[in-house]
Amino acid sequence: MPKAYLSRAELKAKVDKLPRVRMAHLPTPLEEMPRLSAALKGPGGAKGPRILVKREDMTGLAYGGNKARHYEFEMAHVRDEGYDTLINIMDYHSNNARMTAAAANKMGMRYVLVLKNAKGRPVQGNLLIDKLLGAELHLLDERESESAHDYAAGIQKRLEKEGRKVCLLQDHLEPRISGMVAFVGAGLELQEQLEALGIKKAHFFGVAGRSFCGLILTAKNLGLDWTFTGVTVTYDPPLDPYIFQHDQDIKKLLDVPVTFSKKDMAVLDGYVGEGYGIMTPAVAEAIHLAAQTDAIITDPNYTGTVMAALIDQIRKGNVKSDETVVFLHTGGLPAVFTFAEELAAWKG
Ligand SMILES: Cc1ncc(COP(=O)(O)O)c(C=O)c1O
Repeated sequence: MPKAYLSRAELKAKVDKLPRVRMAHLPTPLEEMPRLSAALKGPGGAKGPRILVKREDMTGLAYGGNKARHYEFEMAHVRDEGYDTLINIMDYHSNNARMTAAAANKMGMRYVLVLKNAKGRPVQGNLLIDKLLGAELHLLDERESESAHDYAAGIQKRLEKEGRKVCLLQDHLEPRISGMVAFVGAGLELQEQLEALGIKKAHFFGVAGRSFCGLILTAKNLGLDWTFTGVTVTYDPPLDPYIFQHDQDIKKLLDVPVTFSKKDMAVLDGYVGEGYGIMTPAVAEAIHLAAQTDAIITDPNYTGTVMAALIDQIRKGNVKSDETVVFLHTGGLPAVFTFAEELAAWKG
């Protein structure tokens, strides 16, 4: 029995029926990276694969990134539940923290940001934008960061006593799955863009995360010949609680026949280096190479790591000349300024 796939229109209707606040500049472009491809060789001088980049760094919302799509769904939930205040707990150079600040401003909501490992950091990159956007910042040191949730819950209690209706984002399911739903939409966009280029088979490279799961869900429900290599950028949290345990939540929310599973994503976890937020030499090389070939700026924490993995996999011959690669650029651009000195000192 052939599998019964959804049509494009059926899957789109399932996404479109969910509450949504329009915030992102869509559709984002899909661009070729011919010069990067030409600069890369596999074993024996094999030529590089065709490489396309999906520009999720161009979604708007204070310097772009995947969260612009995510917040279209998450903010609808926050609004519909009647919240007037958001609390978010993130790491000091978080893109999520910045884009939540932008989304909260657009919704006219109060935004309290508890930033871990942030005390004494230079006000640069995302932290600078958080300030410009007027986030109410609580900068924690390393020791305080260990009990960041208690700290945030204390603020929540205080604000609720003052009569605010407060959503502490980490206590809700929606932030964990709205990004997946949003990227089912991105998957529909990609399917149309790839079809216009006559491309049926594609190999996606991206951060092993929620956005990637959304693309997988699109591919599986439409029966597309897409494969996925997800790159980890941190040792914490592990992928099971972060994404894989939500396979049924999204299936239920979208009411689709199939969901993603672990077997749909080849995971590369050898590119993290010393840890999240510490740039490796391979990532520095990748950032320079993508910039100096096709003028694509990637970041030291997320997309630069994926780019480093892609470059390495091509050089090792694990991605072949006849493949078409789609690099999912999920944003993160302000972080290049946080790493200004290291990046500028890089000699190659
Ligand atoms: C630039 C960038 N890419 C990818 C991710 C992973 O996000 P997600 O798991 O929501 O896809 C993040 C997370 O904050 C990010 O900032």
